[in-house]
Amino acid sequence: MDSELETTRQKVIECTKCELSKTRTNAVPGKGNFQSDVIFVGEAPGRNEDKNGEPFVGIAGQRLNIALENAGVSRESIYITNVVKCRPPNNRVPTMSERNTCQDYLQKEISIIKPKIICILGNTAFNSILGGSEITKYRGKIVKKDKQFYFLTVHPAATIYNQELITVLKEDIVKLFDLIRELKNGKQISADIDYSA
Ligand code: URA
Ligand code: SF4
Repeated sequence: MDSELETTRQKVIECTKCELSKTRTNAVPGKGNFQSDVIFVGEAPGRNEDKNGEPFVGIAGQRLNIALENAGVSRESIYITNVVKCRPPNNRVPTMSERNTCQDYLQKEISIIKPKIICILGNTAFNSILGGSEITKYRGKIVKKDKQFYFLTVHPAATIYNQELITVLKEDIVKLFDLIRELKNGKQISADIDYSA
């Protein structure tokens, strides 16, 4: 593993910068391939992630796995993390203050891995990273901001009770990896939403 990423991992594991450190079992640093072309960003750890110290290992993770497998992509080949690294009590949405306090870790993960594209999973990540809202309206779209590409899709947990959304997530993940192939082949990608324009 990249040593700078390992340092960041250790810092997350020991972090007490916000109140969530008092109620967590384990902090959950990002996990996966540090040479990945894509970083997936969720909201915050849930119960299973808190127990195991790993991101997306519960039901939401299983939904994400279904969509990845459908696109022929292995979990080991990608990198997955969250906006906030410790579980909020009862899975409440992390506060602005918690997100702001935790954001240096995500920025660090991004600067080390330098992904070709960042895949935003759901509204909390959309709002925290790009100031957006209404992910169901914007999902499937490509965003460009400060020379970085982003891809928007629904949160895997949202597909648990809504069967239509698993089809949506699958379609989006296929589109994402088509895009990654094009980026790797040096093709010019035009963003649907360009914050730098
Ligand atoms: N939901 C998230 O947003 N992240 C996880 O790691 C698990 C569930
Ligand atoms: Fe530190 Fe982030 Fe955990 Fe808060 S949520 S204690 S800032 S790692």
